[in-house]
Order: sequence, then structure tokens, then C-alpha cells
Amino acid sequence: MTTTTSSPAPATAQPEAGAPEWWRDAVVYQVYPRSFADADGDGMGDLPGVTSRLPYLRELGVDALWLSPFYTSPQRDGGYDVADYCDVDPRFGSLADADELIASAHAMGLKVIVDIVPNHSSSEHELFQQALAAGPGSPERDMYVFADGRGEHGELPPNNWTSIFHGEAWTRVTEADGTPGQWYLHIFDTSQPDWNWQNPRVHALFRDVLRFWLDRGADGFRVDVAHGMVKPEGLPDAAVNAEGLLDIPEGEVPIYFDNDGVLEIYREWRPILDSYEGERMMVLEAWIPEHRLPLYIGPEEAHQSFNFGFLQATWGVETMRAAIEKPLALADAVGAPTTWVLSNHDVIRHATRYGFPPGYRFGEGLGREETPDAALGLARARAATLLMLSLPGAAYLYQGEELGLPEVAEIPDALREDPAHLRAGVPGRDGCRVPLPWRADAPAYGFSPTGESWLPQPEEFGALAADAQEGVTGSTLEMYRAAIALRREHGLGRSDAPVEFLEDLPEGLLGLVRGEVVVLVNTSEQELPLPAGPDGLDLADAEVLVGSAEPVPGRLPADAAVWLRRR
Ligand code: GLC
Repeated sequence: MTTTTSSPAPATAQPEAGAPEWWRDAVVYQVYPRSFADADGDGMGDLPGVTSRLPYLRELGVDALWLSPFYTSPQRDGGYDVADYCDVDPRFGSLADADELIASAHAMGLKVIVDIVPNHSSSEHELFQQALAAGPGSPERDMYVFADGRGEHGELPPNNWTSIFHGEAWTRVTEADGTPGQWYLHIFDTSQPDWNWQNPRVHALFRDVLRFWLDRGADGFRVDVAHGMVKPEGLPDAAVNAEGLLDIPEGEVPIYFDNDGVLEIYREWRPILDSYEGERMMVLEAWIPEHRLPLYIGPEEAHQSFNFGFLQATWGVETMRAAIEKPLALADAVGAPTTWVLSNHDVIRHATRYGFPPGYRFGEGLGREETPDAALGLARARAATLLMLSLPGAAYLYQGEELGLPEVAEIPDALREDPAHLRAGVPGRDGCRVPLPWRADAPAYGFSPTGESWLPQPEEFGALAADAQEGVTGSTLEMYRAAIALRREHGLGRSDAPVEFLEDLPEGLLGLVRGEVVVLVNTSEQELPLPAGPDGLDLADAEVLVGSAEPVPGRLPADAAVWLRRR
């Protein structure tokens, strides 16, 4: 069996195990505060709830948690509509609760990453309210992207841009004298006006926000819509196709994303992070063409960026291998580690995604009429997770994936909150945000002491509850715990051990070697005999470290993965 090394020795020296650059190979757990744990019983998760569950995260073995926004917000986009960046929404607790969470996490050796939302604020932000009141041409209005409309009376939007949540990206305001007035830009919901990053006061405001959370002990930031802040000069029309929709070639992004000016913002922020003690970091949520990624990361820009290619790859040897090789090569070119992610609060959970019949999709939520194969989805999701956790770089987990939670389709429309659903009727992202089941036999499966839950939990959550899986051999929770521990023990996250792919494997088998660990994924529909390993090694004789399916001696079941240690 021959091997191919995909990851050449990186250009920069890699830190030793336990070295300070913790983010390089960290396993980071995303907490979506609304749905993680509810301490006060109002049916919405909160910060004291998160603090109470930190021992669970420590037990899971992660290095850090990333908290989705918990700031003051009308919650029109689940908190990604921030009205005050430096305070906690009363639904989630208080600043004192945030301090306690950070201190408790630190005491357990867990880092804390907070979300920063610099592309837009909430329309309830004081500065937007002032901008509305102050009128055209005022310094207040210049904090946001306002423009005069086109047409004889300014009745047409300033350009043809559409919102990521469907519909127009512009809303016209009524001026103080009651006349129809200017338009403001909102790449997302109408309740999320875009900041004007050409205004130095916006830069100053966010430098202060960074310092505010760094002073409180945050170890880093996840930057929301990190490719969005700077718009093209003159706000030109975008190209449209025959149906009048924005013409975005495959792999490209709309005209208002990925403009070079955003890189300057990271160069402005990096020295601030570096000026603090400890290793403060930023990870970007940048949905950009892959080849642009290296521009965003490096010693003067961000520490890392989500690599969404792995999440978008369909099940299969070629697709998944390409989704590993490409980002590794790109990241190596700038001496930065890559990241891996399979689920988050915006995409269909991977336990469901992998069960789709041909026609894989990750966005816009799961419709009630769709019937993915749940058992197949979970089997492949577990295998994909083992593949992900064997790779060098940082791995980001989304709450509940360690329980194998599926996407929930059965949510009454009246309870759905995703603005994309409200604007366009798509199912939307609520299905991956259903509150977590902690206890099989408790009201709301232990999510809240009162049994309240802002979204209804399906009955199947009972068997998937954390306490139903704890200590159960072969459960998804125990598989995650084992894999995370083994990943650390074998240094699998480190970038100095290259990824060597096994070549000439039977069809449908993906294999790679990381140090003394051999990782095999059977993407085919039949059980396959374990192949010969590197250097003719007999893998049937190797020690099984962890597997995603019930082990079969000498063989690998369909849709399963295994980590073997060479003897
Ligand atoms: C990001 C967030 C998403 C939010 C959007 C607008 O993509 O992850 O949840 O809706 O930004 O803030």
C-alpha cells in the first residue's frame, strides 16, 4: 500500500504540544445560548444555564466554547441583531453572569470565544435610532449605509442588491417630517442595518467592543459575516441573470461580500488582540471562494477562518478527500492551521444531511415533506465526525451533534423565528436550534426546570438525551468523548504530522495515516475487509482505538469509520 502526503511540512514552525497557540488544534464547542440550558425556567436558555453545564463540556474533552450572541437584542435573528454590544440581554442574564461564566470556564481550563457581529447592528441600536432621527447628510446617518433612492422621487432602491434572507436588501425610511425618505442597506433582515465601515467612528466603536470583552477575559472572537463589512465603492448594481436574480457564478459570492477592504479591518484588530496577555484569537465566519481564504489569515490578519468546504462536501471518497486536501494546501501556504466544521446553527444538522437521497443540501432548513434516511444519516455523520477529528487543525462542534441530534422538521410555522422563514417561507434554520435534551425522563428533557422550551422538542429527543447516552458503549456521546481524548493523546490535531492518504484502496474506502493512527472510512454500501495498511501492514491485526459502528473483526461496515493503531 502506498501513501501520498497531502500536507507538506508547513512553512512556519509548529508549536509543541501544550504550547501557547492553543487555537491551532483546539476542539471548540459552539453554544447557541437560547437552546443550550435554561436555568431560570422561562423556556429560553441563558448564561447561568451554560455555567451549570460546564462540567459536561469539560467531560466531553473540548478545549474551548464559542458562545453565539447573548447581547442585548430584540432577537429578530436569534441575537445576531445586536442592540448593545457591551451588555447582556436580560433573557440571558447579566454582565455578572457573563463574568461568572468566563471565570468558571477558565477555572476548568476551558477557553471562551464570544461572537462579534460587525456587519450590522439591530435597528434598535441607539445609533441607528439616532441616524433615523437625524436625517439625510447628518453624521449620525453616516454611521450606517444610507442612500437616496433612484427614480423620479427616490421611490426605487439605490441598487438591485437582494438580501441573504430573500427580498430586497434596502428599506426606505420615513423622514422626521413624515415624507418618504432615504433607503438603508440590510444585507440580512430589515431589522439588521449594515454599518458604514467607511466611517472611522465605526472602526473606533468596534475597537472598543473588542477591548470590552478582552478586558472581561474573552479568549477570542468568532467574527460574524466576516467577509461582509466593506461594500464596493459607489454601491454599483450587481449583474443579474435572465430571471432577474443576482447572477452569482458557482463558487463565487455576491458583489457586497469579500471586498478587499475587509482585510484592513483584521489588520486593525490583530494588534489589539496581540496586545493582551494570553493567546487571544479570532476565527472568521467567511463564506468566500476557497482560494481567497489565505488572504484572511496570517500573522497580521485573523488566526483562522471556518473552512466550509468540508461541510459542503457530499459523502464519497473523492469529494471528501478533495475537501481535506484543498484547505490543507491553502492553509499551509500561509503557515496557519485550517479548521473543520460539520454543523452549526445555520445549516441542516449533519446527522440529517447525510441521510438525504441524492440532492444534498445544507441551507434553508428541512421541510416537513422531506424524508431523509435518519439511520443512514446518523451512521455517516458519526463516520464523518471521526474523519474530522483525525485531521490537523481546529475542529468546531455544534451543540447537540455529540448526541447525534437530527434536524427537526416538525416545528409549527407559527413558532418558527428564522427571518428567512418569515420573509420567504423557506423552512429556515429553527430545526437545528431546538433546545437540547439533557434528561430522558424530565420535562423538556431537562432543558429547563419548568418544562418550558421556546421550540418544541420531538419525542425522539428522549432516547438521545445526554443522560441516556452517558456511559453507554457505542452511544454517539461516548464516541465523541473517546475520539476527542484520543485526538489529544495522539496529537492528531497538530499540523506537524502530515496527512498521508492511503492509495489504491478498494473502491469506496477512504484511508489516511496520522502518525501511528490509521483512519479508514467506508463510504460504500457494503461491508469491506480491512485492507493492507502502509508498508504492507496487516490492518486486520491493528488495535481498534475507536469506531463509528459496532466492530466486525477484520472488516469495516458500510457507512462507518474506524481509527486503528498500527502495531
Ligand atoms: C451569520 C450567522 C447567522 C446570522 C447571519 C446574520 O451568518 O451565523 O446566524 O443570521 O450571520 O447575522
